[in-house]
Amino acid sequence: MTEKAFAILIYLISSVLFIVGIKRLASVKTARQGNFLAALGMLFAIGITLFDQKILRYELIFLGMGLGALIGAVLALRIAMTGMPQMVALLNGLGGGASLLVAVAEFEGLLDLPVNTGASIFLSILIGGVTLTGSLVAFGKLQGLVTEKAVVFPLQHPINALLILCALLLSVLALLSPEAWAGLRPASGALDRELIMLIIVGLSLLLGILLVIPIGGADMPVVISLLNSYSGIAAATTGFILKNNVLIITGSLVGASGIILTQIMCKSMNRSLMNVLLGGFGSTSGASPAKTTASGKSIVVKEVGVEEAAMVFDAATSVIIVPGYGMAVAQAQHVVKELTDLLSKRGATVKFAIHPVAGRMPGHMNVLLADASVPYEQLFEMDDINDEFASTDVALIIGANDVTNPAARHDQSSPIYGMPILNCDKARTVVVVKRSLRPGYAGIDNELYGFDNTLMYLGDAKEAISKLISEIKSL
Ligand code: TAP
Repeated sequence: MTEKAFAILIYLISSVLFIVGIKRLASVKTARQGNFLAALGMLFAIGITLFDQKILRYELIFLGMGLGALIGAVLALRIAMTGMPQMVALLNGLGGGASLLVAVAEFEGLLDLPVNTGASIFLSILIGGVTLTGSLVAFGKLQGLVTEKAVVFPLQHPINALLILCALLLSVLALLSPEAWAGLRPASGALDRELIMLIIVGLSLLLGILLVIPIGGADMPVVISLLNSYSGIAAATTGFILKNNVLIITGSLVGASGIILTQIMCKSMNRSLMNVLLGGFGSTSGASPAKTTASGKSIVVKEVGVEEAAMVFDAATSVIIVPGYGMAVAQAQHVVKELTDLLSKRGATVKFAIHPVAGRMPGHMNVLLADASVPYEQLFEMDDINDEFASTDVALIIGANDVTNPAARHDQSSPIYGMPILNCDKARTVVVVKRSLRPGYAGIDNELYGFDNTLMYLGDAKEAISKLISEIKSL
């Protein structure tokens, strides 16, 4: 086997590992294995690239890998589960930045390159640049370094459209054949094209900022998923520049999965991608405690203490737990698992109902519950469990809000109208654990809190569930 054929074979194996890896990531049960397979694919891809390109001096590469591994390990260990979206944003940005740098480095030989490679260079610069600064702004918004609010100014969208058009026109100009180029600008040379390239770099970096600042912090998870897709597309175009098949395959996989995920998130929130990208939804900061529904009806709640709440569970034979963002904030998953075990031991059936956009990232609840060793068999997707609420004694809502709001079914004035929700209100009794009556992500009050069968057991999720466990044990 020739060296080239060997390299192609290893690239093929890495590509298969990536594809199988991403497939396995789709289920909590197989996700770890999927991650491992994809990492193995990456190791093969890096190894064979070094070998194939005859890179014999490894000092700098090992230094870079060591530094990268160290920074990655420290970040991964320190990041809280609730901070995962901004971590992903940062990683996407770095991916986009890498594509941008490769494209700029390859630009040097543009005059000798075929037009399609030249076009790939400009696409890489454009998409990579937008991904880099867009992701940094998204990171800043989630980390509180940049204002979470949507920053809007007059003619924002036309200006963005104009900038995109300029970048595309300049790219076409730079791609003109030397003869056409000479006709346009006599005595032109590589310098002019370099200047154009630098202007395109500048435009793409500016566009990344301008496209993300009008979007409120609460919509960032959707934007991050979209930027994730962009980083994949940038990597794929870089693959065309470098004629590297594995980069084209992985880039396409990331690009496609990112866009699919973005669509799933939008669909689960009943919003269009355009609606998200144009901004102005879900700015919850400073929202006042609930008093009325979106259509103006007042909400009167029944608040209970731990004793009353414990008595409800003492009598229950079936319980469905609905976890939400608040469970993640409180890191209550371990006490929730303890409660599940206790109730099961006392003869109740306990299931978890998982809404597709509960929390702040896809699979947020699954990851947290898996971390607390809740068996997968106990977790049910919304469509599989929604009919069971009607025959359930208690629906226990822990730090979830919007995904349980019945207004989504009927209140056309509500921003979440049409979003599929969990049918918690149909259970005989609903117990809601949250700290106050403040709204959730969508910034609207939840009419469920005023229903006759709803009991509000207010408190931090971890503390409240711990107290509930002690109380039930004492009965
Ligand atoms: P939310 O509607 O955001 O409600 C979370 C609730 O948790 C809040 O009302 C808050 O009430 C409570 N909470 C916060 N900290 C708490 C603590 N320490 N202890 C107890 N409760 C606490 O969450 P959800 O029901 O999970 O819905 C998710 C929302 O995020 C949806 O609107 C969805 O569209 C949106 N979203 C999701 C995603 C993905 S992919 N998951 C992406 C983008 C947007 P208090 O302040 O009163 O405690």
